[in-house]
Amino acid sequence: MTTPPPAQASATQHTPDLPPQADGVPREQEAHSAPLGVGLSAAEIQRRLDDARSRQVELEAQHEELLRTQSALRESMVIAGLGSYVLDIASGIWQGSDLLNEIFGIDPTYPHTIHMWLPLIHPEDRPMMELYFFTDVLGHGQAFDKEYRIIRRNDQTERWVHCRGKLEFDAHGAPVRMLGTVHDITYRKQMENVQLFLLQSGYTRAGEDFFRSLARYLSHNLSMEYVCIDRLIGDGLEAKTMSTYHDGTFDDGITYSLLDSPCGDVVGKSICCFPNDVRQLFPKDGFLHALQAVSYVGTTLWSFDGKPIGLIALIGRKPLTNPALAESMLKLVGLRAAAELERRQAEKDRLQILMNLEHMVQQRTLELKETNRMLLTEIAQRSKTEQEVALQRSELAHLSRVSMLGELSGSLAHELSQPLTAILCNVHAAQHMLAKEGMTDPIEMQEILADIESEDKRAGEIIRRLHLLLKKGNVQKQPLEFNDVVLEVLNILRNDLANHNVTVETQLTPGPTTICGDRIQLQQVLLNLVMNACDAMAGNETHNRLLTIHTRIASDTEVRVEVSDNGHGLPDGSEDQAFARFFTTKPHGLGLGLAVCRTIINAHNGTLGAANNRDGGATFHCTLPANPP
Ligand SMILES: Nc1ncnc2c1ncn2[C@@H]1O[C@H](COP(=O)(O)OP(=O)(O)O)[C@@H](O)[C@H]1O
Ligand SMILES: [Mg+2]
Repeated sequence: MTTPPPAQASATQHTPDLPPQADGVPREQEAHSAPLGVGLSAAEIQRRLDDARSRQVELEAQHEELLRTQSALRESMVIAGLGSYVLDIASGIWQGSDLLNEIFGIDPTYPHTIHMWLPLIHPEDRPMMELYFFTDVLGHGQAFDKEYRIIRRNDQTERWVHCRGKLEFDAHGAPVRMLGTVHDITYRKQMENVQLFLLQSGYTRAGEDFFRSLARYLSHNLSMEYVCIDRLIGDGLEAKTMSTYHDGTFDDGITYSLLDSPCGDVVGKSICCFPNDVRQLFPKDGFLHALQAVSYVGTTLWSFDGKPIGLIALIGRKPLTNPALAESMLKLVGLRAAAELERRQAEKDRLQILMNLEHMVQQRTLELKETNRMLLTEIAQRSKTEQEVALQRSELAHLSRVSMLGELSGSLAHELSQPLTAILCNVHAAQHMLAKEGMTDPIEMQEILADIESEDKRAGEIIRRLHLLLKKGNVQKQPLEFNDVVLEVLNILRNDLANHNVTVETQLTPGPTTICGDRIQLQQVLLNLVMNACDAMAGNETHNRLLTIHTRIASDTEVRVEVSDNGHGLPDGSEDQAFARFFTTKPHGLGLGLAVCRTIINAHNGTLGAANNRDGGATFHCTLPANPP
C-alpha cells in the first residue's frame, strides 16, 4: 500500500483559489443570487454552460498538474532516500510513505502510532528520544531534528536515521499535526565510525595490536564471522596473516596459498565481492567449506608506489546485505592498513639495518682488539729490542772503556807506583829512625806518617778512578761542569801524556759550562779523543806533539769542546767514516772508540764530528745542550 505523503494529504484538503469573474462579482455570490435556469435567457444559459465547461477543463488540468507534481515529489524523495510521515497529534496516529516503512522494516499493517514508534528505536536511544519528543518537541513546540538508532522490525538490523519534523498549530497555538522526513544515514554513520576508529588507533598507541583491533572491528561492524589481514609473500602467490579474527579469537602468522581461493581473486583488484554462494564459486577452497561460508568481500592493500603488498578478506555465514557499505569501508580501512604494513616493513628494515650495523661494529671492534693486541705485542717486542740494544750499547761502551784502560795500564801502573814508592821510602825512613835508639824525633815521625797517609790517599784516588771506569753501571745523568770533566780526564792521562811527550794546552771558558750528563760516559768520550790524538801524533818529533783542548759556550744554548792535535790527520775523505764501527787504521785498534763516542753524545742530544786542520792534524768537536743552573 502506498500511503499518501503528507504533501498530498494536505493538498487534497486544499481548495485552490478561483479567479474572479470579468465583471468583478465573485462566482459563488453570483450562483446564489441567480438560481440555475430561473429567468435566464437561452443565450445566457448557453454562455454560463460554456463558462462552466471551460472552468471544468481548467480545473482538470490543474488537478493533473498537481498529481504530476506530487508524483515527482514522491520520486525525488525516494531518490533522496527520504521517507515521509504525517502525524496527527490528537490521535497519535501517523501515516508513513512506503520508503519510511522500508527504512523501519515494517509493513502497512504495523500499528502506526506514537506508542508503537517507540519500540522501533534502539533500546539505548529510546529514553533520550522519548524525552526529546514529548518535552522538547510537543511540550515546547520545537522542530523535530534528531539522529538516532533504530532496530529494523523485519531483520533486527541496526540502522541510523535522521528524523526531521515540523509542527502545525491551531489558532490557539496548540500543535495539531506534524509533517516530516526520515533519512537512513546508516552508511554515513558507519563511515564516520570507521574514520573515528582509524583516528583512534594511532601507530604508537599502546595496547592492542592495530591489525587485531581492525580485524575485530570489521567483523563486528560488517557482521561477518571471519576476517583476515594478510601480507603478500613469495611473488604474491602466498599470504601470511598479520591477524585473523574468527568468532571472537585471534590467530596470527599463518602462511597459506592464494591458489583457488577467493583471496587469489582479490589480489590486484581494489575490491572483490561475492555477496552470496561463494562456496559454489570456489568449490576447491576447503577453508570456505569448513567455515560454511556464504559471502565474501576482500580488498588489496597497495604500497605507496602502487604495488599489491597485502589483502583484507571478510567471510560471512550469511549473504552480504549491504555490499556497498562493506566495499566503502574496506576501501577506507585498506588505505590505513596498507600504510601500517609499509610502516612495519620499514621498521623491520630499519631494525635489520641497525642489526647489520651492530654486527659490523662488533666485527670492527674485534678487529681493532686484535690489531691492538698485535700492536701491544709489537711495542713490547720493540721495547725489548730497545732494551737489548741499550744493553749492547752499554756493553760496548764498557768494552771500549776496558780496552782503553788496557792501553793505559802501563802508565796507570806507573802512576800508582809513584805513591807506593813514596810510601815505601817513608816506611824505610821510619824504620831507620826507630833502629837508631834515642834518635826518635816525634815531630819528624809525625811528618813521615802524614806523608804516608797522603801518598796512600793518592794511590786510593787512582784506584777509585780506575774502578769507576771499569765499572759496568747504569747511565746516571746529572748536572755537571764540562770543564771539570776535561780536567778529570787530563788528570787520569797525566802520566800517559807525559810519557808520550805530549804538550797539553787547555783553553777552558771561564763561564759555567753546565750540562746534564753521565760523568763516566763523558769522561770516556774525552779519553778516547785524547788517546786517539796521542796515537795520531806518535809519529811526530817528540818536541812537536801539541794537544789543544778548548771549551766555550756557543749561542748560550750549547757547550762546545774541541780537541785538536797536530798529528797525521784523518785519511782523506774519511772524516765521517772514522765514526763507523770497526773502522780503524791501527794495527791493534778495535775501531769502536769513535762509534761509541758518537752514540754517547747523541744520547745526550748532542753532536760529535771531526775535520782535518788546514795546517795538519785533526780537530774533533763535540756540542752538548747547555743546562743553565
Ligand atoms: N785524532 C785523530 N787523527 C787522525 N786519525 C784519527 C784520529 N782519531 C781517530 N782517528 C782515526 O779513526 C780511527 C778510529 O778510531 P777509534 O774509533 O777510536 O778506533 P781505534 O782507536 O781503535 O782505531 C782510527 O783508527 C784512526 O784512523
Ligand atoms: Mg780509539
